[in-house]
Amino acid sequence: MGMIVPSLAQWLETSGVLDASGIFVTGTDTGVGKTHVGVLLIHTLRVLGRTVIPRKPVESGWLEDSGATDAAQLAQAAGVTLDSRVCPYHFRAALAPPRAADQEGQTLRIRELAATCPVRWEKGQFLHVEGAGGFYSPIAHDGLNADLAQILGLPVVLVAEDKLGCINQVLLTAEAIRQRQLRLAGVILNVRTPPLEGMDNLSDLQKYLQEPVVRFPFDSSHFG
Ligand SMILES: Nc1ncnc2c1ncn2[C@@H]1O[C@H](COP(=O)(O)OP(=O)(O)O)[C@@H](O)[C@H]1O
Ligand SMILES: [Mg+2]
Repeated sequence: MGMIVPSLAQWLETSGVLDASGIFVTGTDTGVGKTHVGVLLIHTLRVLGRTVIPRKPVESGWLEDSGATDAAQLAQAAGVTLDSRVCPYHFRAALAPPRAADQEGQTLRIRELAATCPVRWEKGQFLHVEGAGGFYSPIAHDGLNADLAQILGLPVVLVAEDKLGCINQVLLTAEAIRQRQLRLAGVILNVRTPPLEGMDNLSDLQKYLQEPVVRFPFDSSHFG
C-alpha cells in the first residue's frame, strides 16, 4: 500500500468513481490489464478511506495455486480473505467462462453471477467487480459481460492496452457501453509495452471522449 499514482487519484475524482458506490471493470480485450490496474485502483480507494468489496463473479483459467488468480489479487489488494464470495465460480480451462464451464459439466446463468454481488452495502463500502474478457465477451451461457454490467447497473471503467489500434477498440467499446444505457466513468490506458515513437493515444482519445482518460504506467517491478 501507499503506492498511489497521483494521476490515478485525480482520475478517480473526475470520473465520478469517488461518488459512486462501486464500479464494473471491463476491458477492450482479455489480458489488457483489468486485474493489474484493478489492484492499484483498490489500493488507491482504500487510501482514500473506502472499504472495498472485491468480486470476480467467474474466473476461467483458474490455477491450482489459487494465489496467482485474479480473485486472489483483488482480494489481497482489498485486504480480505479469498473465500467463495469473492469468486464463486471458477473453472480450469483458459477459455471463455461458458466454454470452460461446459468442460466441467456446469451451466452458468447471468442472474446467478449477478447474485454473487451484494445488492446493498454500507456507506464507505465500495463494490469492485471485474468481468471476464471484454464488454461483449460471453460470461455465462445466457449472456455477455454487457448483460451482467446492466443487471448490476454500476458505472463502467474501461481498461485498454495503450497500443496501436486501441483508439478503435476504446471508441467501439465506449459506444457499446452507452448503447446499454450504462455510464462510462472513464478510460484507463494501460502501458504494457514500450510506446511507439510519435504515438499519443491519450491525447487522441481525449478529443473523441467526454469521459476522463488516464495513462497507467508500465510496472517494471513486475519483472524485477
Ligand atoms: N502496467 C503494466 N505493467 C506491467 N505488466 C502489466 C501491466 N498491466 C498488465 N500487466 C501484465 O499483463 C498481464 C495481463 O494483465 P491482467 O491484469 O491479468 O489483464 P486482464 O485482467 O485484463 O486479463 C499480466 O501478466 C499483468 O501482470
Ligand atoms: Mg483479469
